[in-house]
Formats: sequence, structure tokens, C-alpha cells
Amino acid sequence: TMEIQIAPSILSADFCNLERDLDRIANADMVHVDVMDHHFVPNLTIGEPVVKRICEVTDLPVDVHLMIEDPDRWAPGYAELGAHSVTFHAGATHAPVRLARQLHDMGCEAWFALRPAEPVEPLYDILEEFDTILIMTVEPGFGGQKFLANQMPKVRRLRDEITRRGLKTNIQVDGGVSPSTAATVAQAGANILVAGSAVYGAADPAKAINEIRDAAAA
Ligand code: DX5
Ligand code: ZN
Repeated sequence: TMEIQIAPSILSADFCNLERDLDRIANADMVHVDVMDHHFVPNLTIGEPVVKRICEVTDLPVDVHLMIEDPDRWAPGYAELGAHSVTFHAGATHAPVRLARQLHDMGCEAWFALRPAEPVEPLYDILEEFDTILIMTVEPGFGGQKFLANQMPKVRRLRDEITRRGLKTNIQVDGGVSPSTAATVAQAGANILVAGSAVYGAADPAKAINEIRDAAAA
């Protein structure tokens, strides 16, 4: 079975205590950083200066999730800062293959994201270009939304396609992941689980990470 990785989202952390809240998730596999621009999604978070400091203070790989227009223009800047991976959205990029190759040339992984209404099949032609496919399990923009179980058939179809082609592509899910939904997403074939409110809304974030990991393995 595939190894499950947990990626806490600092969207639900205390933005005035980011270093403290990064220390609280030391048992995670990576830290998920949501960059929003008030255009691609109706919310605004942080950009390069803050992501730069996060990369400097954490030992975890930094998973930058760009929910912004024109990632073709901005994604390389995050690779330059030291992100382990940069995720950009299908609905925002103009030249996904060119951007993926540019990120790889910079030593950064290229991850590709689909919103709930976007089908996965059109991606099959360029699947090899990406290290990870992110299937959103909420409409992007905010933490604390209800998990969309209707995305599980898409995750399953994508996992089947990856297996059929003998690829090593990861499937990430983001939105509404908690100890009660982790088994569902893992059984569908996702292996990188983002969790914001379920981790930072818990009294003990490190314990919540372990609970999500255990639930996914069950
Ligand atoms: C939502 C963000 C998520 C968010 C998830 O648009 O991409 O990463 O932090 O939050 P939860 O886990 O609370 O649904
Ligand atoms: Zn996210």
C-alpha cells in the first residue's frame, strides 16, 4: 500500500504566530501554504515575502498551493524562494507544460490542481509532466468547508490511470479532510492529505496529524 503523507495547511494557523504554529506540526510530512489573490478565489492570504520566511524557518518541505490568476508569471518566484513544490490550477494556467518544465528546471516539483467541477480526463495527455495531481475536495478559497465526497470517483479514475500507466504520480486531496474523511480519500487512492481546520482547530495539532494518519491507514 502507498505511504500516506499529511500536509497541514497553515491557512488555519495563527498568522501572527506562524513560527510557533510551524513548530506544532513537526511530525507532518510537509507544510501546505495557501496563496490566494482575491481574483482566482474570493480570499487574499500571503505572498512571496511571507512564504520566503516560512521556507527559511521550517525544516519541512514547503508545498505552495497557488490559488491565483496567471501562475505562469508568478509560480517560478516561489520555486526560487525554496518551495519543494508549486501547485497551480488548471483553470488559471495558460501553458501548463511549459510552466511544469520551467519549475523542474529550477529544481522544484510541479503539481497540478483541479477544482471540483473540472474533469480529470483532459489531463491524461500531459499527466507525465506532474509529480502530483491535486483534486480539490472543496471549492477553493476558504478553510473549514464541508468535504465533497462526490470527488471520490474522480480520485479513483485518476489512480487507476496512474497505475495502468505505471507512473509514480501522487494524488493530493485538499478540503474537509479530517480523521472522519481520511479513510475515504485514502481508499479512493489519494496519498497526500491536506488538512487545515482539522489540524489547527484541534487542541493538539501534532496529535490531530497522527489521528488523520491512523484513520487513513485503517
Ligand atoms: C482551501 C485551501 C485549503 C484549506 C483547507 O481553498 O486550499 O488548503 O486550508 O482547509 P480545511 O482542511 O479546513 O478544509
Ligand atoms: Zn490548499
